[in-house]
Amino acid sequence: MITILYSKTAEEASINGADVITALLMTKKNPVLGLATGSSPVGMYTELINRCKDGQISFKNVRTVNLDEYVGLSADHDQSYSYFMHENLFNHVDIKEENTHLPNGLAADPEAERARYDEVIASMGGIDVQVLGIGNNGHIGFNEPADHFSTGTVLVDLTDSTIDANSRFFERREDVPTQAFTMGIGQIMQADKIVMLAMGAGKADILEAALFGKVTPEVPASILQLFKGEVIVCADEAALATIMAKHPEAIA
Ligand code: GLP
Repeated sequence: MITILYSKTAEEASINGADVITALLMTKKNPVLGLATGSSPVGMYTELINRCKDGQISFKNVRTVNLDEYVGLSADHDQSYSYFMHENLFNHVDIKEENTHLPNGLAADPEAERARYDEVIASMGGIDVQVLGIGNNGHIGFNEPADHFSTGTVLVDLTDSTIDANSRFFERREDVPTQAFTMGIGQIMQADKIVMLAMGAGKADILEAALFGKVTPEVPASILQLFKGEVIVCADEAALATIMAKHPEAIA
């Protein structure tokens, strides 16, 4: 079931996403969060930091597992996803460092790292809420358009369009890693609930294609149409433009 929440602004969409996580943290003893990077979830993380500082929620018993990490970047590289998570969430809430997990971008043996990360995900005993963004090409995590949906953790070659999109964070395009480890689509689909964040006009067409188009590994996010639980899409008006034009009845 897909619930699309309308928000005029990215701030409001971020609050909607933070509400889903707040409800989980308030009701579950040892919650497991699947976390995402990218610009879309930043506002939601800021909101969660504020709620933690206000004492509304605590991350003391939260365990996290991130979707992905670039190959070749150390955890303290300022463009690594480990660095991103520490800057945008972990360093500002009462989470225990040992309860946070990301793939190791510097792993010498990629095969062993894939197996290790599968084990990390399995050891969580189930992800309660998985946060997702959506790439310009419909990727989730770093699961790029492909001829099949991935199951477990994979080492992927990033597409040119993803490298282009992510080059805005690097000094030069050549500095963008060309590979990444990502949680597999099968693992994402096993979560209990999904919060998808999509902000800005650049996501309008791909969001509509993913949620209303054909389910195909060419648009990895389209698999969410088959998700067993609830996918809550928190998007701003700009990202919802195509859906509002073609399927106005679908928006809550
Ligand atoms: C990256 C991440 C994705 C993210 C996507 C969109 O490639 N690996 O998990 O969803 O970018 O990012 P943004 O929210 O900045 O558009």
